[in-house]
Amino acid sequence: MKSATRIQVHDSNELRAALAALAERLLPEVCVETGTHTGLGSTQYLIELAARYFIEKIYTIEVSKTLHETARGNLAQFPAVECLWGLSVDREAARTFIQSDPLLLERGPEPDLYIDFLPDPVGGYLRELDGAVGGDGDSETTPRDGILSEIVPSFSSRRPLFCLDSAGGLGLLEFEIVRSLMGEATYGIWLDDVNHVKHYRSMLLVQKDPRAEVLGSNMEEGWLVALCNG
Ligand SMILES: C[S@@+](CC[C@H](N)C(=O)[O-])C[C@H]1O[C@@H](n2cnc3c(N)ncnc32)[C@H](O)[C@@H]1O
Repeated sequence: MKSATRIQVHDSNELRAALAALAERLLPEVCVETGTHTGLGSTQYLIELAARYFIEKIYTIEVSKTLHETARGNLAQFPAVECLWGLSVDREAARTFIQSDPLLLERGPEPDLYIDFLPDPVGGYLRELDGAVGGDGDSETTPRDGILSEIVPSFSSRRPLFCLDSAGGLGLLEFEIVRSLMGEATYGIWLDDVNHVKHYRSMLLVQKDPRAEVLGSNMEEGWLVALCNG
């Protein structure tokens, strides 16, 4: 297992080409990103895509108030982008997921996976979650949670493109939530960090899903782009 990873997505023309291929087939009207960070990484790919394929709206979710404010500044010139401050998933579901994740508890034989906070990844990911969702119960300091479940149903029929790139300990949970919210509808998915505990298992699920067509992937750069047909 490797124990460190980078924050921003790779600068990759191969990734750009895969996303363009996805947009051409999917014709998304909406993009949703988890993990805005400063808005200068994956969000910029979505902005390029939106300009070229007439995508109306990009929602991007960031749980850190400071990073959310920074991203709002960095993205202010793009009216299609709406920065949402909060947790993509339900707070309690996130805690339960991390505490019971067999991959963190047992750390099996998966090849060359990045995993943070060794030798205590459960503790580390929980501390990260607690830091991220801290606050004192005041709506000014406590981020809202469950944003994916709140917003996705209103545009699930508009062929959304999801970019999932938030916390390492929550990737699979986010992916499962997206799959369940989208049901039989058509959508696109861009997973970042598929060589990480974050989305390694999401990648395996996409690869064996008969509805999903992988349009590009690069294990070294750690991404996968797929079309999920309704
Ligand atoms: C790997 S970074 C994202 C990098 C960004 N996509 C880029 O390419 O520059 C992960 C970000 O997700 C945020 N985050 C972590 N868990 C989150 C969650 N459940 N919901 C929303 N944001 C989250 C972190 O604060 C961090 O800024």
